Amino acid sequence: MDPTRQVIVALDCDTRQAAQAVVDRLGDACRFYKVGLELLTAVGPQFVRDLVAQGTEVFLDLKLFEIPNSVAGAVRAAGALGVSMVTVHGMGGTGILAAAVEAARDHPGLRVLALTVVTSVTDSDLADIGVSGSAEGQVLRLARLARETGCHGVIASPREVAPLRALLGADALIVTPGVALPGESAAEHARPATPRAAIIDGASHVVVGRSVTRARDPLSALRRVHADLSPRRAY
Ligand code: C5P
Repeated sequence: MDPTRQVIVALDCDTRQAAQAVVDRLGDACRFYKVGLELLTAVGPQFVRDLVAQGTEVFLDLKLFEIPNSVAGAVRAAGALGVSMVTVHGMGGTGILAAAVEAARDHPGLRVLALTVVTSVTDSDLADIGVSGSAEGQVLRLARLARETGCHGVIASPREVAPLRALLGADALIVTPGVALPGESAAEHARPATPRAAIIDGASHVVVGRSVTRARDPLSALRRVHADLSPRRAY
């Protein structure tokens, strides 16, 4: 697969200028951006429309967890922006996931992804909120729910990708944040892996944020991610 569409760069910025500077610097090397709550709230949806208009795919990371009617409305609004992916919390359960899937039907290019367990969460964090068992067990439980409700895929840490691929089959999207290049600090990701390890295990996409956007040269940093995925590719 083309690494420029397999690596999703997270634009976790608080101004349009900062986000645009990354987009301008990366140019054709990145064809897929993640826009999260910070950027969307700070700069508004026009920035998303502009990214889509220039042929870039957008993963709108809304992490929806609301009553089904409100989730459906937000998914329809995401579809109207032309984005390719939107996220819903798997912990919201069957009603919320099914409402999101149903609302996406009018937008054939829109994929609904269930967020399983945020990569920074550990087994003891789960125990604190009353979830017994391991993070991996919880990820697999929510992934089953996502499959049963018709979600197109899941968001999970690289550590759970292999069992998820076995569970969900070849067509599911498995998108993994929480990756770090070899030798890089793992920031607050409790369960990091390299992009290459995640893809080999079966991830369809990896999300990379600060390693690229905060680098002195974001384009060289992104090329290091691409090189990690395709070690024989010359730059
Ligand atoms: O850490 P990094 O800057 O690469 O994060 C990129 C994206 O990955 C963030 O936008 C966030 O949604 C997601 N992330 C996550 N779990 C973390 C840290 C980041 O899911 N612990």
